[in-house]
Amino acid sequence: MIRSRLDPASDDYRRRREAMLAKLADLDAEHAKAVAGGGEKYVERHRGRGKLLARERIELLVDADSPFLELSPLAAWGSEFQVGAGMVAGIGVIEGVECVITANDPTVRGGASNPWTLKKSLRAADIALQNRLPYVNLVESGGADLPTQKEIFIPGGRIFRDLTRLSAAGIPTVALVFGNSTAGGAYVPGMSDYVVMVRERAKVFLGGPPLVKMATGEESDDESLGGAEMHARVSGLADHLAQDEHDALRIGRRIVRSLNWHKQGITPLPTQEPKYPADELLGIVPEDLKVPFDPREVIARVADGSEFEEFKPLYGASLVTGWARIHGYPVGVLANAQGVLFSEESQKATQFIQLANQSRTPLLFLQNTTGYMVGKDYEQGGIIKHGAMMINAVSNSTVPHLTIVMGASYGAGNYGMCGRAYDPRFLFSWPSAKSAVMGPAQLAGVLSIVGRASAQARGQVYDEEADAAMRAMVEAQIEAESLPFFLSGRLYDDGVIDPRDTRTVLGMCLSAINSAPVPPAAGFGVFRP
Ligand code: COA
Repeated sequence: MIRSRLDPASDDYRRRREAMLAKLADLDAEHAKAVAGGGEKYVERHRGRGKLLARERIELLVDADSPFLELSPLAAWGSEFQVGAGMVAGIGVIEGVECVITANDPTVRGGASNPWTLKKSLRAADIALQNRLPYVNLVESGGADLPTQKEIFIPGGRIFRDLTRLSAAGIPTVALVFGNSTAGGAYVPGMSDYVVMVRERAKVFLGGPPLVKMATGEESDDESLGGAEMHARVSGLADHLAQDEHDALRIGRRIVRSLNWHKQGITPLPTQEPKYPADELLGIVPEDLKVPFDPREVIARVADGSEFEEFKPLYGASLVTGWARIHGYPVGVLANAQGVLFSEESQKATQFIQLANQSRTPLLFLQNTTGYMVGKDYEQGGIIKHGAMMINAVSNSTVPHLTIVMGASYGAGNYGMCGRAYDPRFLFSWPSAKSAVMGPAQLAGVLSIVGRASAQARGQVYDEEADAAMRAMVEAQIEAESLPFFLSGRLYDDGVIDPRDTRTVLGMCLSAINSAPVPPAAGFGVFRP
């Protein structure tokens, strides 16, 4: 059992906790924007039409009092589009079955898909496929956001490809259509295994009446062209005609119940609460990420019984590795301790990842790294080879990976510790996280050194005043671009979470992962020892 050395009475702890609480208040404010959808005017109008909001539809679809793990609620943050990107996505439990659920938010620009909505949809389908989770879409969308069609039209084809690939993989796809599902959107019900349409509300056609008039001269109306009644009785696209929204949700639940779905992963052991309170996770990460912290303090508040069987504790001590359980599921943990990764840490990580693959144990990466060590001694000692070895191991490891960015995630440390490009099944950030190619001051400093050398080479006098201004500007820019809201807005994670929720979120992810069998170990690339 880990013995905590954290002192909740210390000034350090109090300062860290206050800083984290301030960041969490900011996070709440940003989440509230997503929940507000298109704002009061559009919400009122939507309700006035007798319709339920996207989140209300989900709430009625999932089992009463069951948890919903929302994914990427900050999508589109910092862009010209509404926070949340006009879509709600997450993992919820329907009739005891964990499903990936998406719901268009028709109060945001008619539920149209912008480039961030597209990323969110594609991510949801990936999660369904990787983890073998039934995929349920609650559809009501004006299709492509027309002004940004160039960003979405061509890559957006994947939405329909993914639906049919899910079906081919034996993963059920369900579309509940509440309103408009025009043009490309018509292929969502078109490609789904099960389709429910709401009477007098669902409108599913390749082209609406004006487009048909333009194309062929034919006069038509919404109902005969794509109404729910027509699709249920004439075209056969609708399998069920729902009387109203509640009825559609009830039918959706019945469809999932009849899937006869069984999880194929492992059954967790009885769970045990950690010995230390989750609340103390607020006071661990220093405000200044240059100050290291002991990740065992985090593990002690996340792992069952605070138990951790450390592997190679005396070797490569800047990376902590070992075995634990979370909500009864076994995991191998890799956690940065001193920030920097040296050759020993890379070799230790490589061995540990191979061991986890041998025993088919999922891996949890707890990131707080400034990257691989630079400098003459380290280059001569083979830091590139050893870092490459660790990246090879992470890339080719077949067990499911989970990543939490707790603090720094700089340079190739982001890669070796299973950043987004390395396809962890799920990746969440704490509000204290920061990711970039390097720290803002270092990056500005590098630009300054390069600029000065270039001016000298041209025989010019270097403008020190302009240099200082450039450094300040670049530093501010890189700092802003390394913050979690910005990165979450670009879907470089699956969401920013309250550190206190880490164990719950990981438990839900591990449960979702175990809907699929853990894949067998495959080969690794050539290791350069
Ligand atoms: N792209 C960009 N903006 C869109 C949009 C789209 N596809 N669809 C709707 N919007 C905008 C509207 O311009 C409007 O903006 P405003 O309030 O600032 O004026 C807002 O979203 C709400 O649209 P509105 O038409 O008032 O909502 P509605 O609920 O009455 O109707 C639709 C919703 C989807 C039925 C209707 O907007 C529509 O038919 N849109 C175009 C659908 C289409 O042909 N899409 C092409 C698919 S490839």
